[in-house]
Amino acid sequence: MNWDPRSLPSQTGKTFVVTGAGRGVGYFVAEQLATAGARVILTTRGETTALDLIRSRVPGAAIEHVTLELGSLASIKQAAADLAALGPIDVLINNAGKTGGSRKRETTADGLEIMVGTNAYGPFALTALLFPSITGRIINLGSLSTRLAKADLSDFEQSRGKYSVSRAYAYSKHGVHAFALELDRRLRASGSGIRSILAHPGFALDGNASARPGITDRNSAGQRFVERLLRPVAHGKDRGAWPVVRAAIDPDAAGGQFYGPSRSVTGPPVLTKPVPQSADPAFGAEFWRLAEQATGVSFEV
Ligand SMILES: NC(=O)c1ccc[n+]([C@@H]2O[C@H](COP(=O)([O-])OP(=O)(O)OC[C@H]3O[C@@H](n4cnc5c(N)ncnc54)[C@H](OP(=O)(O)O)[C@@H]3O)[C@@H](O)[C@H]2O)c1
Repeated sequence: MNWDPRSLPSQTGKTFVVTGAGRGVGYFVAEQLATAGARVILTTRGETTALDLIRSRVPGAAIEHVTLELGSLASIKQAAADLAALGPIDVLINNAGKTGGSRKRETTADGLEIMVGTNAYGPFALTALLFPSITGRIINLGSLSTRLAKADLSDFEQSRGKYSVSRAYAYSKHGVHAFALELDRRLRASGSGIRSILAHPGFALDGNASARPGITDRNSAGQRFVERLLRPVAHGKDRGAWPVVRAAIDPDAAGGQFYGPSRSVTGPPVLTKPVPQSADPAFGAEFWRLAEQATGVSFEV
């Protein structure tokens, strides 16, 4: 079907969970879904102005909040319990992710390498724990960074050799791709009607988005200068949200698909392809085994 991200089909009566919705792409995903009439549960790590902002922009919006820190399995377990208590979830959107970090190898509260632990194992554990409450779709946020580095699952948390944070980010997103596509294979094999779909925002910056006080204006003057220089190759996080929203609500979107901007980094949302490595079923199965081992959470589909 022709898809117009500015004119979404009504989502009245449906419940979405958007992780990391206090700013960035996640904020705009939540705002766009609320504008379409959805009930949206935003997760953030701490205090947020996002709820009041959406309520002020979308009169009557049904907005709720749960606290989630993906770098702590205790927080993930608590958040899963809090979310399950709010009733059935039509769509879980695993948007939250650590996008920058220290050159030095750091770990989560549970001793996992921080990028892989937060971006790949965290959403795996949250999805597994919340799975009995999910009725429709599970959306995960992939990345073009998977084109820049091959992942080594035998040293996925870079415990050996020289640590690289950009490699850690790429590894974490290979993990996300592997998880989403392996989940799709397992859902199909079990005859489930739940769809696992990937989306990526392209290259999306706060400074190129429509202004939202307290959300898009948080960067330093230096960061804003760099954002202006990058304008020709980057769109705003409002547009970066478009492929995520399409994956979440386009009636024609199927399990195992991957949505991204038409020109890779910018453009309207269209179907795209993951890199072969993270789409490989053997890679997916091995990631699943590692994720269960690292988190201690078994995921029965
Ligand atoms: N923007 C891009 O160009 C781009 C490209 C490819 C993929 N992506 C992916 O798209 C998603 C959103 O990116 P973005 O550009 O919106 O990033 P962002 O502006 O850095 O926002 C990241 C979001 O994730 C949350 N988060 C970070 N660490 C967390 C943790 N340990 N526990 C729970 N939440 C945490 C942040 O919460 P706080 O506010 O508490 O920090 C924030 O809400 C990410 O998964 C990212 O990897 C982005």
